[in-house]
Amino acid sequence: MPRARGLLILTGLLILVSPVPSRAEVNSFSKGLVVSVSEKASQAGLEILKQGGNAVDAAIATAFALAVTHPAAGNIGGGGFMVVHPGGANLPTVFEYREAAPLKAHRTVYSPDDGMYSHKVPGVPGTVRGMGLAHQRFGTLPWKDLLQPAIRLAGQGFPVSKELASSLNGLLATSKDFLELQKVFAPPNRNGKWKAGDLLRQNDLARTLERIAQHGPEEFYTGETARLIEQEMIRGKGLISREDLANYQAHERKPIAIPYRGHVVYAPPLPSSGGHTLGLMLNILDGADLKKHGRWSHQTKHLLLETMRRAFLERARHLGDQGFTDIPHFLLEKTFAKSLHASIDDDKATPSKSLAPEIPISPESDNTTHFSVADAKGMAVSNTYTLERSYGSKVVVTGAGFLLNNEMLDFNWFPGTTTNSGRIGSEANTIAPRKKMLSSMTPVIVTKNGQAFLVTGSPGGRTIINTVLQVVINVIDFDMTIQQAVDSPRLHHQWLPDKSKFEDMKGKAYQESLKKLQSMGHEMSGGPQGDAHSILIDPSTRKLIPGLDQRIEGGLAGY
Ligand code: DON
Repeated sequence: MPRARGLLILTGLLILVSPVPSRAEVNSFSKGLVVSVSEKASQAGLEILKQGGNAVDAAIATAFALAVTHPAAGNIGGGGFMVVHPGGANLPTVFEYREAAPLKAHRTVYSPDDGMYSHKVPGVPGTVRGMGLAHQRFGTLPWKDLLQPAIRLAGQGFPVSKELASSLNGLLATSKDFLELQKVFAPPNRNGKWKAGDLLRQNDLARTLERIAQHGPEEFYTGETARLIEQEMIRGKGLISREDLANYQAHERKPIAIPYRGHVVYAPPLPSSGGHTLGLMLNILDGADLKKHGRWSHQTKHLLLETMRRAFLERARHLGDQGFTDIPHFLLEKTFAKSLHASIDDDKATPSKSLAPEIPISPESDNTTHFSVADAKGMAVSNTYTLERSYGSKVVVTGAGFLLNNEMLDFNWFPGTTTNSGRIGSEANTIAPRKKMLSSMTPVIVTKNGQAFLVTGSPGGRTIINTVLQVVINVIDFDMTIQQAVDSPRLHHQWLPDKSKFEDMKGKAYQESLKKLQSMGHEMSGGPQGDAHSILIDPSTRKLIPGLDQRIEGGLAGY
């Protein structure tokens, strides 16, 4: 399948104003479709679909392949969330495989001197158990078959794209102290640099994947891989022990279900903040006449920014792992959304600090990845997983060839310290052994008449939730095609920092509304927001239509 490229944003924006459908829109599929940041990983999913696997089988194969072809975020050493619509009259469900704090971690385990990249910052990885659980529940092909494409890609190698070559060159230049990383990602010409077309072979990773394929997901947590992780932790004075690995649990959880204008949006529950925050925003917007002023007017942008501001404050105040923190019920009640809606001034921005006088005001980033899968029988998968920062902790497990996450950064490291730059000090998300850190990952499946209709999600830390919100309203409220919905420029506000962002600050069509927003008190700035590789399933024809996001490289594979 053709690959959409084009670095960051603005190329895609042309599509918004063009009446001509994009190439990705013209392509639609009837039997199965995978859309991800990596063409090779999407093909891995397609290979499994063609072998008779369902969307979950294909998603598992794609996830393992991304761990090989997109090492910045694809992973076996991280964690995430998978939403599955099983098809037919069944309701969507969620597999939560978020990393957990090791037993040695506690509320003040980190000091201001602790950096973002070290053996101290990985949480206990969840991806392999998560995939195992999803397979146990819905898989139809043998587990070991699902890992074969990834094993092949790792062992035989694959030609790197221009983007991956540049990403690896950047990584190697900035991570000199990480010797195993330097070894595993060394360019073919050791003194040179990566170039597009060079072969990336990952032999240690191929052996690790082979062990996991042969012995099952458990191997990662109790077998040779667990032993290698333990050795790595001992060497680097890290926190994760064999006991942590053996005790790690992924869970099947009930999604947050948000009715919205004749659809239902299914999103992950805590420890993802996505379901609650997206739910609160959709509840606020449900009470508004969103279409009244048109998608790009200053009034609509203002309403969206003020809605985001308020929902992100509630996120900061209340959300954390529900096994450790009481979560107020009112957050998703319509009356609460109504009261927040009523607090929006139509004519001016509300300073964020004025909304939370009780919080003493004394920093998330660029790598996570989302992919969407759908099959011919109505099953759909929406999966977002991450290592947190690009290439995670930069610690590669010696002899096992994979990177460990730095997800512990998502906890509130300094209780009581909330900063203008976005650090949050509320209790709900402080560190405790085995607790899972709050996430913003929001893979969603939107249903119409009970069937999967829209599959979407995004990387981008706290921006994720707002990206997903806008893809959803673009389709539901503004009747955009999936490609337009994905390509349109996005807004972001997250309470603190008190800044409003809009991706296309230079776009001619938006100048007037942006000026108006500034005069209303919004401090506006630009900058790219996360990609959203999506699928729309046409309710009448059941055709699978890709929304391949042109902000980033990506590839779709369907038939
Ligand atoms: O779970 C979270 O919300 C973050 N660790 C995600 C990080 C992220 O999206 C970085 N990428 N763009």
